[in-house]
Amino acid sequence: MIILKSTIELNNWFIENLNGLEENLGFVPTMGALHMGHASLIERAARECEIVVVSILVNPTQFNEKADLQSYPRTLENDVIVAEKAGGTILFTPTPEDIYGGTPSAEKVDYGPITSAFEGLSRQGHFDGVVSVVDKLFMAVRPNRAYFGTKDLQQVAVVERMSNERHPKIQIVSCKLIRDENGLALSSRNTRLSDTGIILAQNISQELQSVVDRVKDGLDVNDSVEIAKKKLKNLKGLELEYISGVNYKTFSISTENHGRSHIIIAASVEGIRLIDNIEL
Ligand code: PAF
Repeated sequence: MIILKSTIELNNWFIENLNGLEENLGFVPTMGALHMGHASLIERAARECEIVVVSILVNPTQFNEKADLQSYPRTLENDVIVAEKAGGTILFTPTPEDIYGGTPSAEKVDYGPITSAFEGLSRQGHFDGVVSVVDKLFMAVRPNRAYFGTKDLQQVAVVERMSNERHPKIQIVSCKLIRDENGLALSSRNTRLSDTGIILAQNISQELQSVVDRVKDGLDVNDSVEIAKKKLKNLKGLELEYISGVNYKTFSISTENHGRSHIIIAASVEGIRLIDNIEL
């Protein structure tokens, strides 16, 4: 695997090696601490593209809490192994200053509920940072396709909107959420949970599944969500932030059942914020 540590190194490599392959370049942006969820994105990109660039950049502008940024896991040695095994061609590891062309800062973005509701509300400024960094990474990598996991369902909607406006030629490929054998959605943050925390966190996906099962049995979505809300609020050690039915394209809470495509949730266990979702 080729490791390129700056935009200059990436550009030079492209000039010397692309020779037409730029027509088939896949991109998997990450913040490192790669797990099987990332590996599945890289594997898919490798199946569909000649060249796969995987970036690792812990983007400071998308963290609204300094402590969260500082404690974000950094596991470069293992990341190289995961990315290579999954079929990545290039591991691109620029510094924030390199990508931002100076001190990192993010412009304000307003795409309506997709940037202001749920994750946008809980993590003020988060999507400003995501939009800024993905936009800049797209300019540096210039991919044909970019792969994003649907664990971050709202992020996919935000990136699609940004990309439609600023990079209409890039195809955004949204990929399946990957769970562990107990149903916990894979996340780099999971490594910070204790064994007890992991067991408690499993309630998140279990309750999502129960919401869907009750809806399949004919219960109204809101009523089904309310049952899960009550159960989760009673769990000691788990702090529920939100659980709601939404439409995955608009992130508005439609009052009509057919408008909702997913149930989304955010909760903290042992101070670790976890998000998950399930299709209705
Ligand atoms: O999903 C992530 O890991 C990040 O938000 C992303 C898309 C790499 C931007 O920093």
